[in-house]
Amino acid sequence: MLISSGYPTLARLVAEQVRLAPDHEKFFIKRFEAETPESLVRHEELAGHIAKLIAHDEMAFLGDYGWLCAEQLEEELYFRRHKKYRLSTFDEAYRLVYSNREYMTRYMNGLLMTQLWWKNHFDVIDYYRRVFLATNKPGYSHLEIGPGHGLFIYFAAADRKAGGVTGWDISESSINSTRDALKTLGLAEMPALELQDLFKGPKGVFDSVVFSEVLEHMEDPRAALDVLRTVLAPGGRLFLNMPINSPAPDHLFNLDSPEDLVRFVEDAGFIIENQGLFPATNQTLDMARRKKMTISCAFVARRQ
Ligand SMILES: C[S@@+](CC[C@H](N)C(=O)[O-])C[C@H]1O[C@@H](n2cnc3c(N)ncnc32)[C@H](O)[C@@H]1O
Repeated sequence: MLISSGYPTLARLVAEQVRLAPDHEKFFIKRFEAETPESLVRHEELAGHIAKLIAHDEMAFLGDYGWLCAEQLEEELYFRRHKKYRLSTFDEAYRLVYSNREYMTRYMNGLLMTQLWWKNHFDVIDYYRRVFLATNKPGYSHLEIGPGHGLFIYFAAADRKAGGVTGWDISESSINSTRDALKTLGLAEMPALELQDLFKGPKGVFDSVVFSEVLEHMEDPRAALDVLRTVLAPGGRLFLNMPINSPAPDHLFNLDSPEDLVRFVEDAGFIIENQGLFPATNQTLDMARRKKMTISCAFVARRQ
């Protein structure tokens, strides 16, 4: 058994995933052997939420995780060979990914599993809950742009301290995935989920804005940060999460190092109050920097 029976949901999901994709076994052994009992308790809690979300079709979600890994591997090979991401324009990404309902659904399903399977994704969501959401002021109004699989917006909507919660996404199937996820997790009050392109007349201001794994999808990331500034209420805070050196089918924008991203965000008029840097699974931060491998950069920022 890869995971102790003290963490039953995590242990069962890992066993099922490895049964479906035996070539991932070594990855999973290494992934979990370094986790402390305290961290495994938090993994077990997240596994409980994810198990509920995938219960209606567990094999499809675990299969879509394997499919996503294969898609990412193609992109990784391209990135290593050409030192850049394959796509560079939003139109290409829209045509090939966002408007393709079947592709997008598999993508969001696979991405949901990565929140547990990829250490950097787990660490970001853990950081978001403990460092960002936990320090939001009572009654905060909350917006997430690009909620996708729905886990981040769920934790805001389930937060008793939160006032209204809103989600915007450009993709209809993504919005549907978010809505289904929130229904399954049994929220007392559903957030307002709107089909809304960030660049097309965003309305309202919010105390708490989440932009997680979206900046790297932007053809004009500076323009996106400019919009984020306008939807933040005075004194409001942004949770920004962008992986660098992280090729994926719809990633357009990359930077070389976390420090480059810090500069980019500061130049756009933000003050970064806190940051967490989380290297790809089974890598140290130092190795990830040297080998130009994925580092998830999570920032808590305010408007200057
Ligand atoms: C990779 S998912 C991020 C899911 C989740 N936030 C996370 O951190 O795992 C990116 C999401 O951003 C959405 N998106 C991309 N461009 C957008 C835009 N211009 N306006 C609103 N949403 C957008 C996509 O449809 C997709 O649902």
